[in-house]
Amino acid sequence: MIASCLLELNNVTKYYSIRRGFFDTRPKEFKVLHDVTLRLEYKKILGLVGESGSGKSTLARLIVGLEPVSSGRIFFKGKDISCLKDLRIRRQIQMVFQDPFSSLNPKKTIFQIISEPLKIHGLCPKSKIRDEVARLLVEAGLLPDAMDRYPHQFSGGQRQRIGLARALALDPELIVADEPTSALDVSIQAQIINLFLELHKKRGISFLFISHDLPLVEFVSDDVAVMYQGRIIEIMPKKSFLGKDRFVERHHPYTRLLFESVPLPDPSLSQKKDFKAEALEASIDLSWDNACVFEPRCKYKMDICKKISPEMKKVGDNHYIACHLYN
Ligand SMILES: Nc1ncnc2c1ncn2[C@@H]1O[C@H](COP(=O)(O)OP(=O)(O)OP(=O)(O)O)[C@@H](O)[C@H]1O
Ligand SMILES: [Mg+2]
Repeated sequence: MIASCLLELNNVTKYYSIRRGFFDTRPKEFKVLHDVTLRLEYKKILGLVGESGSGKSTLARLIVGLEPVSSGRIFFKGKDISCLKDLRIRRQIQMVFQDPFSSLNPKKTIFQIISEPLKIHGLCPKSKIRDEVARLLVEAGLLPDAMDRYPHQFSGGQRQRIGLARALALDPELIVADEPTSALDVSIQAQIINLFLELHKKRGISFLFISHDLPLVEFVSDDVAVMYQGRIIEIMPKKSFLGKDRFVERHHPYTRLLFESVPLPDPSLSQKKDFKAEALEASIDLSWDNACVFEPRCKYKMDICKKISPEMKKVGDNHYIACHLYN
């Protein structure tokens, strides 16, 4: 049976324990992800945005299996992979990291870096590995002779391509890209993004695309999820994200705050905005289970917001918001 969606997260929660000093025998549990529920359809790109520390990279690490979930389930093609170590399934989910400088082992040649997963998974006969590495490098936009060099001999953009070639070696169905272009300059960013989109089209790879660059997320994604303090607070189709009606359509107050940070090409549109960015610091108390976590910053707060954590509600096609304003 083919699952209806490629990736499904059901109430995924992640705790870290924090020790306050060497003699602290009772480390404090720190909840970083709260009941995250999310779906990514086959051959789609889901954008994930949210301020620093909201838990985007933690979620990415759980999806690719770098860390275990504390509770909840992650399904990939209908199979529960929350505790699964099955390499045949795990290899179909690959990650491209934010920092192209530290994500490649400086002591290994590019050939060693890219051939390693091929060898571990036994995907290619030994005699054909060099040809396969050359093919992957070309697919990622590099010359085959790059394979005999070391990571420090490449620019940031080229290293990101090498990281992508390494991910492609395992023929993934899903690539989790955690701010893949934030360390690159604008022209190189565009080249890397075009490469992602080409791979998406040609190979049908789905992406979870994490970024702080909202216009870029709008350009790349089919749907966008917004995260705030470890919770998904809004999921919307691309057309509702940063579209010209962004201040007229229904959105979570935090999403509006994010929109405020993006300059508008048409100054008359800014007249329509009804939400003023507040300079309040985000609350660092992440343990709120019985209140809306955005309440201290929200201009529209009501009594109920302090008492009940809002559930996700459907407000349109593929559009969900967790806010008491839309109950
Ligand atoms: N290994 C860890 N141990 C303890 N706390 C952690 C650990 N990793 C992340 N955190 C905490 O989890 C929270 C979420 O971090 P995360 O890196 O996922 O945020 P992010 O949304 O990716 O931020 P950014 O946009 O800056 O990359 C932060 O408060 C962070 O301090
Ligand atoms: Mg991050």
